[in-house]
Amino acid sequence: MTNRRRGTEPGALGGARGAVRRTGIPVIDAETVAAYGLPGHLRSVPDEIDAHDLPVTGALPPELDGRYIRNGPNLLPGMSGGHMQTGPGMLHGVRLRGGRAEWYRNRWVRTGVFEGRSLVRPDGTIDLTAPSANTHVVHHAGRVFALVEVGLPQEVTPDLATVGPCDFGGRLTTAMTAHPKQDPATGDLHFFGYGMRPPFLTYHRLDARGDLVHSREVAVPAGTMTHDFAITEHYVVWLDLPMTFQPALAGRGMPYGWDDAYGARLGVMRHDRPDAPVQWFEIDPCFVFHVANAHEDAGRIVLDAVRYSPGEFAALWELLSRAVEPPSPSAPAVGRARLHRWTLDPARGTAREEPLDDRAVEYPTLDDDRTGRPARHVYAVTGTEPLSRDECAIVKYDTAAGTAVSCPLGPATMIGEAVFVPAGGPRDEDGGWLVAIATTRDGTASRLLVLDAADLPAGPVAAVDLPRGVPTGFHGSWIPAPEEGRT
Ligand SMILES: [Fe+2]
Repeated sequence: MTNRRRGTEPGALGGARGAVRRTGIPVIDAETVAAYGLPGHLRSVPDEIDAHDLPVTGALPPELDGRYIRNGPNLLPGMSGGHMQTGPGMLHGVRLRGGRAEWYRNRWVRTGVFEGRSLVRPDGTIDLTAPSANTHVVHHAGRVFALVEVGLPQEVTPDLATVGPCDFGGRLTTAMTAHPKQDPATGDLHFFGYGMRPPFLTYHRLDARGDLVHSREVAVPAGTMTHDFAITEHYVVWLDLPMTFQPALAGRGMPYGWDDAYGARLGVMRHDRPDAPVQWFEIDPCFVFHVANAHEDAGRIVLDAVRYSPGEFAALWELLSRAVEPPSPSAPAVGRARLHRWTLDPARGTAREEPLDDRAVEYPTLDDDRTGRPARHVYAVTGTEPLSRDECAIVKYDTAAGTAVSCPLGPATMIGEAVFVPAGGPRDEDGGWLVAIATTRDGTASRLLVLDAADLPAGPVAAVDLPRGVPTGFHGSWIPAPEEGRT
């Protein structure tokens, strides 16, 4: 890229150009950081800062008017013990407007855990306002929520300040998945909550105005760790996979473990009929963290998701569940997962499954306007499984042609989830931009990359230098300007 340039005006929030301002949160001492022994790109940052008029390499598309916000775990000063990739949620936000990167800021999400409260009440129940909201950040009906699958949504402002837990006027009595799905036609937000105790699985729907208009229990045999699900135009697709709640695992992070006896099944349930039954389909045992998409095809339901074999998942879960120890420098990468397709035929009661690609990927994304509809393009990232030394790349699948192209990022770079931002005006499905945070493996520096989704191999069209290394986290969203409220 060429044409390196800098902003020419004072920061929109009144800060001096290029200045970094710190809030009152104290720094993590070096001893605490060392105790965690995490690879540099996973290490927590010690404080909250603001920076303005960020240096840009290349040319930011002027139509990108909004903010990219990404969530991830970030330990607090003095925290000890814990598990890999746990910690209070921290939001990292970058404001883009008019071809400029106006600001970066990062803020912890101030949940009960952040304030030092326990997850468990004296009566043994879980305080749903307490868990670290560290997994995703989404916007719906003019509100922004930080999410984790074991707690209530935590509302935050577009400027990343915590508002507090939200139960939609007392109607939401379960946790909320970090992966809700917005129907592009109705604007409804479909989601679910799962728990260790009955009801194990509950389906919910917010309407386009943000009111919780429907909740119903979905009968499953046990509490299973259910990270994601899918919708189509008419159906919800459930993943009931063999990671069951096992009290004996308490103290190892998420108290869920592989259960060979449980089996694995996908379920389809019409979401336009309040009491519709679930039709279940037995599948080969596996685990799925993330769905790419689902759609209907001549009466069949097609689900594309990133699938872990039992062996690959067992190794990953062992690493993620144990108290953090410095991994051996020679430890092999674990948790290789691949894009996979299940085709469910409700009329025949059959499930067919097939791998779509052999490379290891995670964090699938797509044009959200295609959620629940046929989508030709799916995006994902490679090289992100724990302890991987493979070169990271952003991948673009063409599921119709069965092909893929990628943008390799070099051996020193880790990449996070790539979020699709639609271009303005009439466009093809891949008419838009991919936005992702890239961090050096040693964690010392980060850039916000912007790529042309229609021409991934060309590389980034722009890169914003962030004022610090941003730990590789989990999920993020682009929040366009008209919905964001304040500047
Ligand atoms: Fe996730």
